Amino acid sequence: MLDGIGLLATGSAEYGDGSPLGEIADAALVADDGRVAWVGPRQQAPAADTRVDAGGRCVLPGFVDSHSHLVFAGDRSAEFDARMAGRPYEAGGIRTTVAATRAASDEELAANLTRLVAEMRRQGTTTVEIKSGYGLTVRDEARALALAKQHTDETTFLGAHVVPAEYAGDMPGYVELVTGEMLDACVPHARWIDVFCERAAFDADAARTILTAGMARGLQARIHANQLGPGLGVQLAGELGAASADHCTYLSDADVDVLASSETVATLLPGVEFSTRSPYPDARRLLDSGVTVALATDCNPGSCFTSSMPFCIALAVREMRMTPAEAVWSATVGGATALRRTDVGRLIPGAPADLVVLDAPSYVHLAYRPGVPLVAQAWQAGRPASTPRLR
Ligand code: NIG
Ligand code: FE
Repeated sequence: MLDGIGLLATGSAEYGDGSPLGEIADAALVADDGRVAWVGPRQQAPAADTRVDAGGRCVLPGFVDSHSHLVFAGDRSAEFDARMAGRPYEAGGIRTTVAATRAASDEELAANLTRLVAEMRRQGTTTVEIKSGYGLTVRDEARALALAKQHTDETTFLGAHVVPAEYAGDMPGYVELVTGEMLDACVPHARWIDVFCERAAFDADAARTILTAGMARGLQARIHANQLGPGLGVQLAGELGAASADHCTYLSDADVDVLASSETVATLLPGVEFSTRSPYPDARRLLDSGVTVALATDCNPGSCFTSSMPFCIALAVREMRMTPAEAVWSATVGGATALRRTDVGRLIPGAPADLVVLDAPSYVHLAYRPGVPLVAQAWQAGRPASTPRLR
């Protein structure tokens, strides 16, 4: 039993104070066999064999980071440095990482990936989605997904990240590769398929062809949409019933309507706007229109090299006008919804006991004390985590 919890956020309105975060003050949580068996006020807690005192700290569901690109080699800090001196972000930088990733050994890629997953865990992430997209050959995309699969079941085939240099000027040829031999090689290692639907990458027709081909093979769709400018990505997400449209920085009224009237989650990645010095998405407009919003890091070497969900929560609150409760919901339940998961992201009976113990009395401190390492512990399956595999 985890006792002495100053504030427990269950992530379910059925528990606690009836708010979306389902808050319980002076709480306890009983875990059995790796799963939550009971949550409630500590005075009502059932007897348990062992008792760990949280010392009045706040306990949250582990963060669900539903968008990351962790399989890569190389460093693009010079590109970031140039950006901070005024150069704009360009999707073409992806090709720099593609060259470094192709040249890397399996061991180098695995070591980099393991380090980043451990970094995420230390910051409270207990479920992560990991994309391919820096290989862009049959062998290198399959290799990326096989490595990612060692850390999570939430793996995403992103062969359509950009058209690689060897296919320059031959978009149809590359789409044929992605939907043919590359898809064949990647399907066994992936749950999801994603496309960077953007003027600088793949147009909506190419994205539709690629996503439809993946869906026909049993993959589920998610899309990089409307990041660098207005476009048809969000409309396509609605049309195909994608689980999530990610970025959503430039949205028309019609895009907001699509998101509000569909099951597609809007996944906001404010670390990208921070790291590319761009305008933030209008989270308030989405929330006030009834759109389900998720927050994720987009951890990648180009547009945003943070692995920190607490940092993204602080940005969402300060820069996108989300309340701390909304931001924490989006980083937990919202991320789970973007992955079509109902098990993770909540601390309710039956859910895996994946949780964060904060060195603070309330989750508000995640935004109130930005940049401070407040995650005291991340538990996986009812115990402080030690293994490198996330859910
Ligand atoms: O989500 N938008 C496409 N992909 C990444 C950026 C990748 C890169 O610059 O290397 C993103 O922002
Ligand atoms: Fe991304």
